[in-house]
Amino acid sequence: MGCCIKTVAINLIFPFRQPLRSVRIRPIQHARAQRETETALNDELIDYYHGEAIIGEYITTLKSGKEATVHLCEGHPSTGLPFVAIKVYKDIERRSFRAMGTYLDGRLEHTILKRRDLLHTLSDPSSMQGYWVEVEYGTLGLLHGLGLPVPRPLARTGSSLAMAFIGDGTDPAPRLKDVSLDRDRAAIAHDELMMAVERMLAVDTIHGDLSAYNTLFHDGRVVIIDFPQAVDARYHSQGEAMLTRDIVNARSYFRRWGLGDQEESEALARDLWRRYEARELY
Ligand SMILES: Nc1ncnc2c1ncn2[C@@H]1O[C@H](COP(=O)(O)OP(=O)(O)O)[C@@H](O)[C@H]1O
Ligand SMILES: [Mg+2]
Repeated sequence: MGCCIKTVAINLIFPFRQPLRSVRIRPIQHARAQRETETALNDELIDYYHGEAIIGEYITTLKSGKEATVHLCEGHPSTGLPFVAIKVYKDIERRSFRAMGTYLDGRLEHTILKRRDLLHTLSDPSSMQGYWVEVEYGTLGLLHGLGLPVPRPLARTGSSLAMAFIGDGTDPAPRLKDVSLDRDRAAIAHDELMMAVERMLAVDTIHGDLSAYNTLFHDGRVVIIDFPQAVDARYHSQGEAMLTRDIVNARSYFRRWGLGDQEESEALARDLWRRYEARELY
């Protein structure tokens, strides 16, 4: 009773008092307009990343790609970053991975899951979606920790991933396929990309969808993105074929400068794989 009187009294004094939770900065209107779409940065995600001290305010939606939508937010001071990108994945059932089986191959043996858990994971779309997020988050963490040119991952949920925003101010870096380079810069970008492929393989990682679409060009350097389908070269039965496809696809962008010849790409991949198997990469 005493408590109720107190509450009434406080409400009389502060009639517009809000619950403490909503005192935090609210996302601007744009975020609400986005709510209807499945890959929106909805209030639940914004709350989560606020709570984890990853983001300040939502700024805008950057790109709606084939598998995900990427949103731009202010970075929370604790991240040391002015801006943070949040990638929200499309529903697993709509994902258009070319051959899901290819990507699942080799992942399952080395996950220390009981068979029953495995079947559960495979039968539940939201678990599968969480699985892609984990692969991308884990791979970015591994590679970024080694100093490879990938965005620094910050946090994730079952359907989204927060990472460093690659761009100038709020302008996202262009994809490699959208920039026009002179021959010298193209040759440098090519070598950086191939060096990254080699260093990734040295830690048993194959991107699995590498191309000038999944490479950004920022401050004169390449930054590789989009890792949910990355595979572990130790366990994947088609490792060499996937590596070859990555090298052929990535190098095809450089064909106009005489660097992307398919046979040469295949030979590069063969040689790289041989050195990998011989444990000559480091
Ligand atoms: N960290 C980032 N910083 C800036 N832009 C990004 C970042 N991550 C993704 N993007 C932009 O969002 C687009 C889609 O992201 P991506 O990870 O390739 O997802 P999708 O699976 O939809 O291709 C990219 O082509 C790029 O333009
Ligand atoms: Mg992509």
